[in-house]
This record gives sequence, C-alpha cells and structure tokens, in this order.
Amino acid sequence: MTKIFCNETFPITRLRRNRKNQAIRNLFTFHQIDAQNLIYPLFICDGNNQIEKVENLPDIFRYSVDLIARKAQEAHRLGICSFMLFPATPQYLKNPEGSEALNPNNLVCRAIKEIKELVPEALVIADIALDPYTSHGHDGLIDNFGNVLNDESIEVLCEQALILAQAGCDIVAPSDMMDGRVRKIRQALDGQSFIDVGIFSYSAKYASNFYAPFRNAVGSQSNLKKSDKKSYQMDYCRNSDEAIQEIALDVQEGADAVIIKPATFYLDIITRASEHFTTPIIGYQVSGEYAMLKYLAASGFGGSFSDSAADFADLCSENLVAIRRAGATAIITYAAVQLLKKIE
Ligand code: PBG
Repeated sequence: MTKIFCNETFPITRLRRNRKNQAIRNLFTFHQIDAQNLIYPLFICDGNNQIEKVENLPDIFRYSVDLIARKAQEAHRLGICSFMLFPATPQYLKNPEGSEALNPNNLVCRAIKEIKELVPEALVIADIALDPYTSHGHDGLIDNFGNVLNDESIEVLCEQALILAQAGCDIVAPSDMMDGRVRKIRQALDGQSFIDVGIFSYSAKYASNFYAPFRNAVGSQSNLKKSDKKSYQMDYCRNSDEAIQEIALDVQEGADAVIIKPATFYLDIITRASEHFTTPIIGYQVSGEYAMLKYLAASGFGGSFSDSAADFADLCSENLVAIRRAGATAIITYAAVQLLKKIE
C-alpha cells in the first residue's frame, strides 16, 4: 500500500491546521488507550487479608486469595476485563521439580475460582512456567549440570496447563520458551476436552534485563542466584528474523494470540510481526519498563513537578500508544488501573 501524502507543499499545505485545537486532534485520533485492550497482571500471595508491597514495582501489591477477586472487580468497574495471574509461592513450597505448580489447590488455582465467581465476565489468563515454583528459579526442570531440559519440562507444563484449565481459567499463557510446547499443550488440553481454553503464547520473549522487579514479585530472583535464562529466552543481539521464526512456529502449533515481550524496547519486533501474521499480537510492558516510568515521574522530570501521578499517566500513555501504533492490539501493563483512574 503506497499512500501519497505530499503532492503540494508550503504554503498550500500546512499540517498544523489539522492540529490546531483539541476537537480536530480528537477527530483524527487513531490510537488511544482503551480499557478493553488492557490486560492487568495480579500478583497473589499466601495467607489471609494480606497486602504486600512489591520491591521495585512502585504502587503494585500482592494480594492474598481472599482479596484478589475484589481487586479484579475494582478493575472491572473501570472497564478492564482481562487479568493475568502470577503467584508468589512461599519459599518452603518450592523445590527443584516445581511440584506446587501441579497442586490443584495452589494460589493461582484458588485465585482463578475466586475471580470467576465474583466477576464471571472476566477473561482469566494463567501463566504457564515453573519459575514461581522452582527452588532454582528456572522456568523448567534442570539436569545435574543446571541445564534447562526442554522435552521433560514440556511434560510438566502440559500437566500445569490441565490443572489451570480444570480450575477454570479461560486462557493459558506459556512464558517458558521451551521449543514445541504450544503444540503439546494444545494436544493436552484437547485430550481433556478443554477445546475452548485458548493459548496466548509468549512467542518472542527476550532474555531481558527489564524483568528484575517481576522476579522479586514472584520471589524467583534470589533463587536464580548467578544463573540466567539465556539458553531459552531470546538473544536481543540477534537479527529480528529469529523472532519471526519463533512466532511462526507458535502460530503453526496453535497459538491463538502471541505475546511480544518486553514491548517498549522491541517495537520493531511488534511491527514486523504485525506485518507478517494475522494472529492478534499482545505487547507486554514489563516490570522494568513500568518501574522506569515510575521512577522518572517521581524524579519530577515530567514537567508538572507537583503531581507525579499525572506525570506518570502522561509518560505511560505515550508508551502504551507507541506499543499499539507499532502493531499490538492488546497490552499487558501493571499501570492499567492507575491509568484508567486518571482518565475516569
Ligand atoms: C516467567 C515470567 C517472567 C515475566 C513473566 N513471566 C520473568 C522471567 O522470564 O524471568 C516477566 C514479566 C515482567 O517483567 O513484567 N515465566
């Protein structure tokens, strides 16, 4: 598609005419942040009536299962319909196999039921990966040398998917980056008649430095020690063709939507993906990207100096619009509730 947009020049053409007041700017608005396109992550902690601050994730909290559904309901009243759940599993329940992931009564399974009961219209998305459950902090099983095992891990991830589906989630979101897991998870779900449980696959997930606050939130950072996830998450120094290949495989294997993560620093990947595939694309503004804007706003940088919440909302809206303009339809963001409260 070629658009010819410049057949006359100044002074005939004055692009500022179409920006001269808010009404005309509104008229030509193409990208904006709507509640309906946002996915709100919720962290779950153990205990009763617990609200815990998350280190380095300003204004984000973990909630115990008894409070989580009310948090979802509050967000739903602002128009947010989609939720992604992450557990902060107590350390004593973590082991090398991540076996708590397969406990049908674990934090996530209980949270799914609570949310579905209080907010039946909600789309509940459950992450598939073992890192919130393993004592070593990796997303899969490891061998004696610390290598993350692909095929053996997939077997457990399939079981995890079934447990989550049985608990009532609408969507499973494999974030583990094992090769071939989407097909196996699809087969496992279909084998148990969960044909309507969708798969939002983290297809292009980079071994990013921007995940640290999230790892604090689920308590995997300290377990990882000096280890990293570079043998399974993608190398950001590579040609972006690799991302296209990852996405193509997941789409072929049955992904209903693909997640690109981080989003903010990988807009080029989102754009390339949106040109290649018809599958919906979700951008994940990850914890470090969110925190970066929070700290920037708190520094007084944003201009209003007195109102860091307003500065944050402005900075963050610009960031999220960029993610949509790049080609993502939906966005996972920790800022969803804060932004909509500002817009309200
Ligand atoms: C792990 C997982 C991670 C995130 C979502 N799922 C972190 C990781 O891969 O170590 C990161 C999200 C964020 O930083 O906001 N399966």
